[in-house]
Amino acid sequence: MKENENLEAARENTGVDDQIKELAALIKDSNKTIVLTGAGMDTESNIPDFRSKDGWWRKMDPRAVASIDTFYQNYDLFWEFYKMRYNLLQECAPHRGHYILAEWEEKGLIHGIATQNISRLHALAGSKKVYELHGNIRTFRCNHCHRDASVEEYLEKKNCQYCGKKALRPKVTLFGESLPADAWDNSIREVQSSDLLMVIGTSLEVYPVNAIPKMAGGKTAFINNEDRGRDYHFDVRIKGKAKEVLSKLDGILNEME
Ligand code: APR
Repeated sequence: MKENENLEAARENTGVDDQIKELAALIKDSNKTIVLTGAGMDTESNIPDFRSKDGWWRKMDPRAVASIDTFYQNYDLFWEFYKMRYNLLQECAPHRGHYILAEWEEKGLIHGIATQNISRLHALAGSKKVYELHGNIRTFRCNHCHRDASVEEYLEKKNCQYCGKKALRPKVTLFGESLPADAWDNSIREVQSSDLLMVIGTSLEVYPVNAIPKMAGGKTAFINNEDRGRDYHFDVRIKGKAKEVLSKLDGILNEME
């Protein structure tokens, strides 16, 4: 019995390694590679995702805390939720996978990252071209007069220093709001003109970002640790953890240099 199980595991494992080698070749051959990341890119930096078993939305209804309606109807709850998420971030740092993507940009292996994540871990790892499709939780503004506010003013629950309203919020895209136009336009332009789109760590559940993979101009690859996006065509599907798969890819690409 044991021998069969090992054989099965070995066969499955070989499959993943073959797919990783296939993706490495696509990266090497591509003149323009764009990466699209979701919360699965940040879980190995101890930031929970949303829809896997320990995700945020397993514990609470997103529209109850992360929507523009909640901002207006229950500011205290809204404020508390984002204060807690901001404070959680202070313990978190980019992992090896974020640094690898930043190194690949430096080497000209990738040409931009469109992310759904609000952590800014890609930028902190050194990535320069990052399109924040859902904004970020490290900068703040007044929802009424739109002027910037400091994180201290937000955490101290101050009123806006310009218009006096109690309306400070992080510059994230809330449920019920449209995405930042520049991040969206840049992402679509880059994805449509890419030779390769790598999608990493997303359930592909949330519109309109989940429409992006179908706009890809060239080949597509999906790296995720659970089966998702069964109705999508990906040229390469790799079931695995972002940090581990990116590290293996990096090793193969270094050998190809
Ligand atoms: N490596 C690879 N995949 C992972 C890892 C990991 N280390 N950890 C989690 N995943 C996978 C999960 O299995 C899941 O399929 O990443 C996916 C994350 O999916 P979601 O939790 O739905 O996150 P995301 O797709 O980014 O959500 C999109 O929804 O609530 C909104 O604004 C929020 O930006 C978010 C959007």
